Amino acid sequence: MQAIQLEKPEHFRVIDVPTPAAPGPGEALVRVHRVGICGTDFSGYLGKMPFYSYPRIPGHELGVEVVAVGPGITNVKAGERCSVEPYINCQRCYACERGHSNCCENLQVLGVHTDGGLRPQFIVPARKLHPSAKLTLEQLALVETLAIGCHAVQRGGCQAGENVLVIGAGPIGLSAIEFVKLSGARTIVFDVNDQRLEFCRTAMDVETIRVKDDGSELQELQKLTDGKLVNVVIDATGNNKSMSQALQYVGFAGRLVFVGITTQEVSFGHPLMHRREMTLLASRNALPGDFTRIIRLIEEGRIDTRPWITHHAAFAEMIGQFPRWLKPETRVIKAVVHVG
Ligand SMILES: NC(=O)c1ccc[n+]([C@@H]2O[C@H](COP(=O)([O-])OP(=O)(O)OC[C@H]3O[C@@H](n4cnc5c(N)ncnc54)[C@H](O)[C@@H]3O)[C@@H](O)[C@H]2O)c1
Ligand SMILES: [Zn+2]
Ligand SMILES: [Zn+2]
Repeated sequence: MQAIQLEKPEHFRVIDVPTPAAPGPGEALVRVHRVGICGTDFSGYLGKMPFYSYPRIPGHELGVEVVAVGPGITNVKAGERCSVEPYINCQRCYACERGHSNCCENLQVLGVHTDGGLRPQFIVPARKLHPSAKLTLEQLALVETLAIGCHAVQRGGCQAGENVLVIGAGPIGLSAIEFVKLSGARTIVFDVNDQRLEFCRTAMDVETIRVKDDGSELQELQKLTDGKLVNVVIDATGNNKSMSQALQYVGFAGRLVFVGITTQEVSFGHPLMHRREMTLLASRNALPGDFTRIIRLIEEGRIDTRPWITHHAAFAEMIGQFPRWLKPETRVIKAVVHVG
């Protein structure tokens, strides 16, 4: 069986891997059909992802089909198409015991800390499979990206009648926008990139403000909100300067969610946070309930996945295509690899 492995930064290769044995207790054998590529894969490729280890078979956004299940498995059966929750948690630590499987202390993310889905078949814990009879394999591969935004919006507690600002309109910001809209809140989006803001206006029908880093964005936001600013800010830039500045946009008694990730320090003057009694939240990965909710929303037609998938590649073409997806001018939102 052939797999694509990231041997070291900027170097993919095709390797031979053994065909998996029959699944044991708690396990399922899956056939991989579609793999979505995201910023985590790009960072791993560029050697900029602190927790990524090499060599690694990438692939954590997966549309799969169950081939066989181990003894006693009842949540899925052979032939079912599934999305995979790639956060393999230990089920024993303090976080897991309290239901926070998204931030397990011993978390192993498929395709990041342990081998992922760029291979025809592999074994996964059956409890990580979320089946749907209606979704296409591409849609199933998109569920994980959407789950990141779903969880962030949940953390922010966005509600109808509120103003919500999403900073950064990459795939993670876009996934947050989907759920802010579903909450019934008014959605305003900041970015430095005109093309991305245009996509937000045309494909997602939200208000946008271009960040010029000259203070004008704060004034424009005040104008749009009658000086009240917003109830919730979700920063999805991964840029520490943006994350430090994000406090300025949070209104009185508002919430700030950091879903983007930086290895740099984020600093801010405390009086602003104190005066407005802000709540600061992190949002990491997603919970099993986010996956089931998203599958239902796509099944019901309440999330339109059509604007999302912009690029496709066959398994054999992926290594050649991948470097192009790093270039902003190719306007990639989501590239999907067809494994089988
Ligand atoms: N919370 C999680 O579990 C989780 C999961 C996956 C990814 N992430 C993180 O989410 C972040 C976003 O991921 P992505 O794939 O969407 O990245 P991306 O680079 O495609 O998108 C970031 C966007 O932010 C914009 N931006 C950058 N600086 C800005 C600024 N100062 N003001 C306004 N906009 C600015 C960029 O133009 C871009 O459109 C990354 O940090 C990534 O590591 C978090
Ligand atoms: Zn991803
Ligand atoms: Zn754990």
